[in-house]
Amino acid sequence: MSIQVSTSMRSNYCGQLNESDIGRRVKLAGWVAALREHGEHLAFIDLRDHTGIVQCVVDGLGDIHPEYVLSVAGVVRERPQGTENDDLPTGRVEVAVTELEVLSTADPLPMPIDRRSEVDEALRLKFRYLDLRKERMQANLRLRAKVNTALRRTMESHGFVEVETPLLWTPTPEGAREFAVPSRLQPGNFYVLPQSPQIAKQLLMVGGFDRYYQIARCLRDEDLRADRQFEFTQLDIEASFATQEEIHSVVSDAVLVATAEAVDLDVDYPIKISWTEAMDRYGTDKPDLRFDMPLVDLTSLFSSTTVNVLKEKETVKAICLPGGADWSRSRIDALVSRAVELGSKGLLWMKAVGSPEGMRLDSPVSKALSNSEMEGVIMLTKAQPGDLIAVIAGEYGSSCRILGQLRSELGKELFAPTGYRYVWVVDFPMFEGYDEEGNLVPAHHPFTMPNPEDLDKLDSDPLAVRSQSYDLVLNGWELGSGSIRIHRRDIQQRVFAALGISDQEAEARFGFLLQAFRYGAPPHGGFALGIDRFVAILAGEESIREVIAFPKTQSGADLMTGAPKPLSDRSLKELNISLLPPRKR
Ligand code: AMO
Repeated sequence: MSIQVSTSMRSNYCGQLNESDIGRRVKLAGWVAALREHGEHLAFIDLRDHTGIVQCVVDGLGDIHPEYVLSVAGVVRERPQGTENDDLPTGRVEVAVTELEVLSTADPLPMPIDRRSEVDEALRLKFRYLDLRKERMQANLRLRAKVNTALRRTMESHGFVEVETPLLWTPTPEGAREFAVPSRLQPGNFYVLPQSPQIAKQLLMVGGFDRYYQIARCLRDEDLRADRQFEFTQLDIEASFATQEEIHSVVSDAVLVATAEAVDLDVDYPIKISWTEAMDRYGTDKPDLRFDMPLVDLTSLFSSTTVNVLKEKETVKAICLPGGADWSRSRIDALVSRAVELGSKGLLWMKAVGSPEGMRLDSPVSKALSNSEMEGVIMLTKAQPGDLIAVIAGEYGSSCRILGQLRSELGKELFAPTGYRYVWVVDFPMFEGYDEEGNLVPAHHPFTMPNPEDLDKLDSDPLAVRSQSYDLVLNGWELGSGSIRIHRRDIQQRVFAALGISDQEAEARFGFLLQAFRYGAPPHGGFALGIDRFVAILAGEESIREVIAFPKTQSGADLMTGAPKPLSDRSLKELNISLLPPRKR
């Protein structure tokens, strides 16, 4: 519900007039959404503002065209019987116009504004200001504002203080490629646009701010996807003297309040699972838990099997697809092909057939399956007659990942899940593995505190070290992540060393942070929530572009402004920059 804003140019919003206004003289301003002429002295104009449309009755259209901006004055009256439009909130009234002024004319539009027309995204982005007039974009961006307000209010209520951190910053090792900005006053030197306020917020903790938050713009030069833009916004927070649980509790409160206000729904408090459990049971660190359909481990069941494809495999995992036994051959083949496309050597299927008392498995390997294997599969997967069991055997990590991906794709199809299911995934490993140069790759960022119980494995068995980092997941999307940070210089140096960052390099790159840790750094931790993703989910959109006013395309172009563009020779000279010939892509 928007607030009624009365100005000298307007007494009411178009979309808010109703039967209680009948008899009132009103002044409206808006765009011509549609025109209809009924004979010589009767015409209708649908006048639109951001609240909706109202029908205005005029005695002729004259020189009025779609998307002209009008000011009209007149009396609200009941629509004649039989002409009401129950699809419109204003559909029982109309405005009998006595004064009309054209405030602005409009050329014929390159795209329609109405709700029904499908318009190519490139055209929408080129004329984004027209696209923004649409109900969908108005609703999405207003929802976003509502979410931001709810987040801000919750953070304030928990004693967090908003501090702005610099956009002209210095490189930080958070993993993404960074955008550089040349310095005019110090030729040859560059600022870097922040991937996130990570280091700045840690320094705010050293600076005694205790609880910080910011609705922060972050910039990363990474490949764009439906859930990624160069520029995006985080609710960024950091707290001193706080445990993981305390940070989870504040963030959970913020997202639940925002969800309730945005979609008018009280949803359950996030559940918590460990990274190991998430990978083992759902094959992903961002499980959609609106449906269960877990990955079931069949490795021990098949430890001495004679089934060739399952023999001597590190892992045998399965999911049970309700009703899948009735799938056509081509649908099952498509499932197998999808598994192969995801990197599996194949997929073994088993149909649960018969009655609940006399269930058996029908599969290409039925003959080789022993009775106990068959019973075991039925028991462990909890299959019912009519279900299809999909089995993948191979290396543990990839089997979980592939089956997890199938679970997520098929779950959407089979359960058409709705609603919102928040999950905290905790106890991530400290390192993901090794890069080509043999250096460890951090799973979060290098400022993450290892689990104190695993500190002595940092040198001997780094891949077994758990970190104190956590992600918040919603409906299969990573909404945000955070960690308890290293606040001790000695541990920070050990982690840098494990990552192959030498003392000299660490000093050159983050000397200022290490120095700050010498002067009394409180224990601290924090979190960042991706607001674009959060709002996209709440708005029911597949892409974050739908909740950003002026997004870039997949190739990073701004189709409206034409950016990125060449700089003039004069500007380049001023920045002391000379260009190499364009690189072949
Ligand atoms: P991280 O890099 O995981 O953590 O980012 C946190 C959240 O920001 C969102 N996000 C993005 N959204 C849109 N486009 C992108 N390119 C993009 N990249 C990230 C995601 C993600 O979960 N400094 C740490 C947080 C911390 O430790 O406090 C950080 O930025 O929703």
